[in-house]
Formats: sequence, C-alpha cells, structure tokens
Amino acid sequence: MNEQQGFVIWMTGLSGAGKTTIALEMLRQLDGRNLKLERLDGDVVRESLTADLGFSAEDRRKNIERITFVAKLLSRNGVGCVCSFISPYQAVRDHVRENTTNFMEVFVDAPLEVVIDRDVKGLYEKALAGEIPNFTGISDPFEAPQNPDIHLHTDQETVEESARIIIDELERRGLIPVVELA
Ligand code: ADX
Repeated sequence: MNEQQGFVIWMTGLSGAGKTTIALEMLRQLDGRNLKLERLDGDVVRESLTADLGFSAEDRRKNIERITFVAKLLSRNGVGCVCSFISPYQAVRDHVRENTTNFMEVFVDAPLEVVIDRDVKGLYEKALAGEIPNFTGISDPFEAPQNPDIHLHTDQETVEESARIIIDELERRGLIPVVELA
C-alpha cells in the first residue's frame, strides 16, 4: 500500500458557522479507514499553544502563524490536518497555503444573521451588546475567501453532507484512497 500523503483541510468562517462540528463529523466518517489525522481547533489551541494571545489583528496573525508551524511539520510527514480557525484575513490564509503541504481552503459559510440566531456559545449576544470588543462579524472584519477550494453553505446542507463534500474532494484529489460504497 502506498504511504499516506499529508494534507491540510483549512476551515475558515465566522464563529458558529460550523467549523468544529464539520471537523468532528469528518473524523467520524473517516474513522476505520486507517488514516493518520490530527485536528487543530481554535478553541482548543487557544487554551494551550496560543493561550497568551487575544483577538487583535496582530494576535490573530500570531495565532495562525504558530498553528501553521505545527501543520507544516505534520502535513509534510504524511499526516492529514483538519484545522478549524476563524482566520479572518486572506493574506494570513494564503501564508498557510504557501507553507504547508496539500493545502485546501474550505469556506464554512453561513449568513451572519444565521450564526447570530444560532449563537451556540452566547457570544454574539454579548458582542452585540458591546461586551466583547473586536468580535468577528460584529466589530471586526471577516474577509470571505474569494477563491476557496471548497465552499460549504451550512444553512443549506446537513453536517453530514458538508463533511462528505470535503471527503469526496480529498478522494478526488487522490489525497486519501477511494472507498467504494457497498
Ligand atoms: S482566529 O481569528 O485567531 O482564527 P480562533 O479560531 O483561534 O480565531 O478563535 C475563535 C474563537 O474564540 C471563537 O469561536 C470564540 O469562541 C472565541 N472568541 C473570543 N473572543 C473572540 C473575538 N473577539 N472574535 C472572535 N472569536 C472570539
């Protein structure tokens, strides 16, 4: 059997768009395929590797810079990295692409009113009340990808469908073996 190729699935989008949920569902669907995968997620990484950083443009850039360092080492050594970070700046995302192996930008898209309505973590309510400064989509920018490798619409697809779209593209690009459905 050929050795597994490394890759980076880079999910970018607003808080509450579904990045983490889709990452977990992807791993669930890929379970049992004997692939080397690692998940890197904003909420987790910001409690350890980047716990010292906040949400200024400079701190967001540093956050992604450190994660890029990790994703670079993993992806060039045959590990598939499933990354979920708001990563609001196109230039920063382009930098990740340039520095990692088999990078795919996945735009996890949902309209602002939908994520405000979902408000899974209750953060939009606080941000709209002015209690959280520099909140992406409310008081801080989000540069939507102009040319993503994959564009998901989580207000129109199920979580299972969104995850499947990414897996299909990994198979299509030959980054993971195709599994024939029985
Ligand atoms: S990034 O912009 O640096 O890529 P990252 O994905 O790591 O962000 O972290 C985003 C998470 O931090 C959000 O899902 C939310 O839970 C939390 N958070 C706290 N403050 C903010 C803020 N001002 N803007 C966006 N997210 C915030």
